Amino acid sequence: MAAMKKELRGQVAFVTGGSKGIGFGIAQALIARGVHVVITGRGAADLESAKQRLQAAPGQVDAVVVDVRDYAAVAAAIAQTVGRLGGLDIVVNNAGIGTFVTVADMTPEQWAGVIDTNVTGVFNVCHAALPELKKRGGGYIINISSLAGKNAFVGAGAYCASKAALNQFAEVLNQEVRHDNIKVTTIAPGSVATAFAGGDAAKGSEWKIASADIGDMVVDLLELDTRSLPSYIELRPSKPPKK
Ligand SMILES: NC(=O)c1ccc[n+]([C@@H]2O[C@H](COP(=O)([O-])OP(=O)(O)OC[C@H]3O[C@@H](n4cnc5c(N)ncnc54)[C@H](OP(=O)(O)O)[C@@H]3O)[C@@H](O)[C@H]2O)c1
Repeated sequence: MAAMKKELRGQVAFVTGGSKGIGFGIAQALIARGVHVVITGRGAADLESAKQRLQAAPGQVDAVVVDVRDYAAVAAAIAQTVGRLGGLDIVVNNAGIGTFVTVADMTPEQWAGVIDTNVTGVFNVCHAALPELKKRGGGYIINISSLAGKNAFVGAGAYCASKAALNQFAEVLNQEVRHDNIKVTTIAPGSVATAFAGGDAAKGSEWKIASADIGDMVVDLLELDTRSLPSYIELRPSKPPKK
């Protein structure tokens, strides 16, 4: 029998780093499926601008300033989401930063910034969200990792370490919560056309992955039959420049 696609309309999603890049693309894809989306980030102006640009029904998007490194702020934002929208079904851990300098040149603050955001930030959101997902009888946590979690390169000591840690954290979490009907998927993209780490979103956009493609993948995962779980997905540009 063909699997029925899961109905996403009316579900509630919390998307960290939804003001720009990949998070914005994911928020837009969820909105198109009728999901109520809460986007978060540190910058209030960027969040407000994103809220205006997202093509949503009135009241379908909330924008909340929250730094994922701050556990109390994360917990308050999750509580606010549940208080306003009645529950939580989908969590997308997308917020992330990259600082690309050699270990010798990296400051302790740069190291901590990357690890605190890309690893501890994900723990903070998961820890605050899990009780709410359980109250709903299940849910979905999607983490945006990177190919850098497996592929080491010079100048990416903190970034590669953070994404490798995220990959393992997600595997553990998956095993801990799968019997609570909570799925955990980690998407590890290659180059995506965004302004990540001060880059130029337009540069290479003809061959890089588009944020919208990751949004489509997230929707595909959420619509997949509950019995199956793609737990780790590498998403690559299909035709990167020849070396
Ligand atoms: N672009 C790529 O090629 C690529 C490839 C593989 C994986 N990734 C991963 O994809 C994710 C998104 O990257 P992107 O390319 O979309 O980057 P981006 O355009 O720089 O967007 C990052 C988002 O995260 C938010 N953010 C950063 N630090 C935060 C914090 N401490 N608390 C809350 N929000 C925070 C940013 O908003 P504020 O700055 O206002 O806080 C922004 O909304 C990251 O985890 C990144 O590692 C990117």
